[in-house]
Amino acid sequence: MAALIRVEQIADYVGQEVTVQGWVYNRTDKGKLVFLLVRDGYGFVQCVAFKGDLDEALFEQIMRLPQESSVIITGPVRADQRAPGIPGGYEIGVKDLKIVQAAEDDYPMALKEHGPDFALDHRHLWIRMPSQWAILRVRATVISAIREWLDTHGFINMDTPILTPAACEGTTTLFETPYFDEGMAYLTQSGQLYNEANIFSFGKVYCFGPTFRAEKSKTRRHLTEFWMVEPEMAFCDLDGLMEIEEQFITHIVQRVLRERGPELRSLGRDTSRLEKVAPPFPRISYDEAAEILLQIYNDEQDPERKELLKFEWGMDFGSPHETELTNRFEKPVFVYGYPTAVKAFYMEPWPGRPEVCKSVDLLAPEGYGEICGGSERMSDHNLLLERIHQHNLPPEAFAWYLDLRKYGSVPHSGFGMGVERCVSWLCGIEHIREAIPYPRTIKRVYP
Ligand code: 4AD
Ligand code: MG
Repeated sequence: MAALIRVEQIADYVGQEVTVQGWVYNRTDKGKLVFLLVRDGYGFVQCVAFKGDLDEALFEQIMRLPQESSVIITGPVRADQRAPGIPGGYEIGVKDLKIVQAAEDDYPMALKEHGPDFALDHRHLWIRMPSQWAILRVRATVISAIREWLDTHGFINMDTPILTPAACEGTTTLFETPYFDEGMAYLTQSGQLYNEANIFSFGKVYCFGPTFRAEKSKTRRHLTEFWMVEPEMAFCDLDGLMEIEEQFITHIVQRVLRERGPELRSLGRDTSRLEKVAPPFPRISYDEAAEILLQIYNDEQDPERKELLKFEWGMDFGSPHETELTNRFEKPVFVYGYPTAVKAFYMEPWPGRPEVCKSVDLLAPEGYGEICGGSERMSDHNLLLERIHQHNLPPEAFAWYLDLRKYGSVPHSGFGMGVERCVSWLCGIEHIREAIPYPRTIKRVYP
């Protein structure tokens, strides 16, 4: 009996007979030989059918097998450097092949170039392609590594609500939905405020789930629905926060490098920069970053680029600014102490400088920019109430949040990491929409 294997295990089966169940991704005919590139969910492997080894009728069928036909193949595994595949370097000699279904001949995602809109309209089929398969496998490992690190470092998972009574990250990106007799409810922008309640019972917590932002911007970094992990810690200041973040990110990167090498190679990702990710990450203040950016702006000669790089103290960074900044560092870089005016209402002011807050963003290298946003949270009740008014937030919806500043308030901090931003960086892909199985953007809710 041949062992039923997953293609990712193939190296362990050289010289043995195996069975693989999967789908025909590509077929090349060379007279008496047919090369099938078969994917089984765990990898892509070349299967070679030789006319002399097979029943004539079956060989005829194999020669005409359309792409995406489902098959069960049995035969011996051989190591061969030339064999394409993921991981590649192995092939299966076909001794037996069962056709589960011969696919229809008009497969929409046939092997040719497709425009982005066509691919997105066929996302349900596009995810079968090697590149998309590889990215989504990396994503699954990122998610597993996130939970692994947090679960083994004293954090407890607390699910926070999706339907919420008010904004957390600014009122301009809220999705609203009528909620019975209660007026409007909003899809969550962040579970942070609830996490702040949770830490006073559990110490260190995280929430991890889908997050919604009605982003009007059409950029390659924004989705309207994305997954965010948000750790929050009691008795933790801004420095403590940065230490946690760099350990956390390093763990994720190392696990992906360890377990998803074939996928990253198949994407053509140069991993040398990722291999350098280890604590400590450089830390610069917003003031220092602003000085660098002003210098870059002043030195820029090209008028078009100069317009893009326009900068003065007080502005939030655009993606050209983040790219310029991160290009100066090998590793991800922390920028802390942003102007209060460009950040959310809940951030602790910098001592003696109310125009600056104890916020920190983590910017990934190679042009990927912000992957984590976080801060020390405001601990003073009255100042927090003042901020809620300044930001035109409804104080009655925040009464419970203000309570947290009355009963055992402590310095506390947390951050949020966008899974798709992290995956885009690790995979080295151009657009965030490939980092989630079914992307939602301003122009897309299908399929
Ligand atoms: O910087 P943000 O808005 O921070 C918060 O929501 C905080 N409440 C988090 C916290 O402190 N608990 O978002 C955090 C991260 C960003 O750094 C980015 O990685 C991701 O979430 N993100 C998005 N990803 C994809 N599409 C969008 N529209 C995103 N907006 C934020
Ligand atoms: Mg942010």
